[in-house]
Amino acid sequence: MSSVKKAAMATAVVVAAGCALLVVSSLVRLVAHGVSAREEPTALETSVARAMRRLATPTMTRDMQNPVSLCEEALADARAHFADHCALCHGNDGRGTTPLGQNLYPKAPDMTLADTQGLTDGELFAIITNGIRLTGMPAWGTGSREDDQSTWRLVHLIRNLGAITPLQLEEMKSMNPRSRAQFEQEEIERRWLEGESAKMPSNKGNH
Ligand code: HEC
Repeated sequence: MSSVKKAAMATAVVVAAGCALLVVSSLVRLVAHGVSAREEPTALETSVARAMRRLATPTMTRDMQNPVSLCEEALADARAHFADHCALCHGNDGRGTTPLGQNLYPKAPDMTLADTQGLTDGELFAIITNGIRLTGMPAWGTGSREDDQSTWRLVHLIRNLGAITPLQLEEMKSMNPRSRAQFEQEEIERRWLEGESAKMPSNKGNH
């Protein structure tokens, strides 16, 4: 048997064993704990899922180099994009400490930690483009050149999350999407500050 065939066989065996392990452990948990999203995936589930994700990413994708050069302009663009599309789950600082991020199963991870930073640029690119099946992580890529470029800028941002300044985080806050109720409340406050209306704004808490 050629070495390529042997490697393919070995990969198939590892994937099959991983699947079997995941199915058995998931069934045991299902019976014991039900399907609640409140629990954390076990260490076994997490490591099998990550190992399978790695195996399912073609080597060529994994080894891709970031074609966008790292500069402040690229990072600023990525911060705006991240604040608008990703922060709802991941938080502006990428640590995943948002109400939505913490209530997903699996939770949105702290992307400043080694698990995420240990992924290659190509893997980060593939994850952002294709999403992660069976999790809250959506697919963002459409395959267009502009989309790919903005995804590569996001990869730079993820690599540089530790260097975000408090001022930049403040800026990102103002770029987070607003609910209609928040928007209306801000509009009332703005008008009140400009003296257009004598009515004091009341901040009704939103769920
Ligand atoms: C609706 C919630 C949600 C949104 C919005 C979202 N993500 Fe995620 N993301 C997740 C979850 C949950 C995971 C963890 C999945 C897992 O553990 O397999 C994740 C995982 C990731 C990972 C892999 C991290 C790792 O260590 O495995 C990257 C990279 C990522 N997201 C980037 C982004 C970017 C960039 C955006 C915006 C363009 C985004 N995400 C938007 C929920 C979200």
